[in-house]
Amino acid sequence: MCGIVGFTGGRQAAPVLIDGLKRLEYRGYDSAGIAVADGGKIGVAKVKGYVKNLAELTHDGADIPGTMGVGHTRWATHGVPNDINAHPHLSCDGRFAVVHNGIIENYAQLREELTRQGYEFVSETDTEVIAHLLESVYAGDAKKAVMKAFSRLKGSYAIGILCTDGSGRIFAVREAGPLIIGLGVGENYFASDVSALVQHTKNVIYMEDGQFAELTPEDVTIFDSFGRPVERKVSRVTWDVEAAEKGGYEHFMLKEIMEQPATFKATVEPRVVDGEVVFENFSLTDEELHGINHIVITACGSAGYAGQVGRYVIEELCRMPVSVELASELRYRNPIIGEHTLLIVISQSGETADTIAAMRECKLRGARTLAIVNVVGSTISKLADNVIYTWAGPEIAVATTKGYTTQVAVLDMLAIYLAKRLGTIDGARYSHLVEELLGMPAKIQRALDLNKNIEELAESLSYHNDIYFIGRNLDYAVCLEGALKLKEISYIFAEAYAAGELKHGTIALVEEDSLVVAIACYEPLFEKTMSNIEEVKARGAKVLAVALEDNKKIFTKADEYLMVPRCEPIFTPIAEIIPLQLFAYYVARANGCDIDKPKNLAKSVTVE
Ligand code: AGP
Repeated sequence: MCGIVGFTGGRQAAPVLIDGLKRLEYRGYDSAGIAVADGGKIGVAKVKGYVKNLAELTHDGADIPGTMGVGHTRWATHGVPNDINAHPHLSCDGRFAVVHNGIIENYAQLREELTRQGYEFVSETDTEVIAHLLESVYAGDAKKAVMKAFSRLKGSYAIGILCTDGSGRIFAVREAGPLIIGLGVGENYFASDVSALVQHTKNVIYMEDGQFAELTPEDVTIFDSFGRPVERKVSRVTWDVEAAEKGGYEHFMLKEIMEQPATFKATVEPRVVDGEVVFENFSLTDEELHGINHIVITACGSAGYAGQVGRYVIEELCRMPVSVELASELRYRNPIIGEHTLLIVISQSGETADTIAAMRECKLRGARTLAIVNVVGSTISKLADNVIYTWAGPEIAVATTKGYTTQVAVLDMLAIYLAKRLGTIDGARYSHLVEELLGMPAKIQRALDLNKNIEELAESLSYHNDIYFIGRNLDYAVCLEGALKLKEISYIFAEAYAAGELKHGTIALVEEDSLVVAIACYEPLFEKTMSNIEEVKARGAKVLAVALEDNKKIFTKADEYLMVPRCEPIFTPIAEIIPLQLFAYYVARANGCDIDKPKNLAKSVTVE
């Protein structure tokens, strides 16, 4: 959940580190810091708050001399956000500086042990034990000290280490936390995310769990946990630095909302060849596929809500039971999953701790695994038997938008693909659906263009303290995501309810001027949803309807409305979510919220 960077080269390190931290800030933003070695001394600057505070403090790094260092942007786990708990943390002798993402599970035991040995702790963090541990095992060789310290740590983490033993080396250690090496010319880097590296190099190495790396300006060596060099697998990043910049938009979230016609197209088009859906590296044989009797989708947050859409579509087309399980629950539930289960794991980052744990649990029970992931080389993509990348490009805003719609795109394609292989779809319907899916980027664009008044409308409704989202079938699946979008960036209480459930309790909350967002695009159940609209209106609620643009009936009933272009019904959720994303964005903006950095959240939840 934190961002870490490291640099060693021939130029001043601090500006490079601060620039990297700015690009990683979406991973955590309660404090930031850097440590840079200059000769035998380590200079440290760290401060509570955003990276811009650190940049101000150091004049964009100009004040800190030295050509190798490490940096960190924090999402607090142990200890409140303040200057002292901010990383980097130093060993008592000032030889080591440490930055860390993740959790050291045995830190209490190590802290006690090191305190008994006389080491003095200044912070409340688990990270500080690493710095003192390194000092305690150091006997003249930094690499050996890293290896020894590594063997004592339990938990999931990515660590950056700066050592002033005169050899010009920095170290990166990975155990279940994302860490990537960037290979430059006369300089090398590491970071917890490619977005901090692409402005320098496109040649990267995705580190594996249980590895550590030694970086000098000229060379990078990767070792296993026993200190044996391992083969370096160099990959090439396929996107440019502009993809991770705002491109003139006020917020990354708005940019990413607007990108969706293009990202959807990038996900779908290359996978349709001569009218057929084709997936790269899809290894399930026909026999294995016909042996599958249950599909389980697991994920967290929005990825899980994309899975809810996928469930309706896969069940509809493949006539196979599908359940959607919260990864944080599934991992501890002793699930009934075996070799006849296909586990679909969905994750934008590919690094979500609960999702990884649930996936490992199901793999142990024999499930076949298929991952739908955006970040190339991420942990989930490596663990899965099959991976389908969403190819959405870097998603920086904490609230996912294009990540979600491209996940739904892959699930829709997968449903069509599986239906054909299982023989549950006829040729005409198959071709029709492929054609319609290819036409969805234009529908997304129309959904973006249709609601010209949305900013004004959102502003006028932004005073509500709680907002209820209701819908049925696919509309209900979209309600879940629409409500999450609103609450995470505007802090307004928003909850999604299956419209049919209203009378079973929730309607008790509805009163004069309550705002109910009624999604009513699913036509087979339209009249039922209309009845629910009548019911909440009868109790004084104001209704904001989300409806197909040619549906005249709803406009006579709703107080306000957002329009959605008519699409192939099973693909309508892709267009439906667009006005809801915009609505959440403009409500949050009207309320002055920090949209790209919502309070208490971080982009990638790499701790439990
Ligand atoms: C989405 O807006 C959220 N920030 C969050 O729910 C997210 O979808 C969830 O944490 C899962 O992340 P992942 O897709 O990277 O696994």
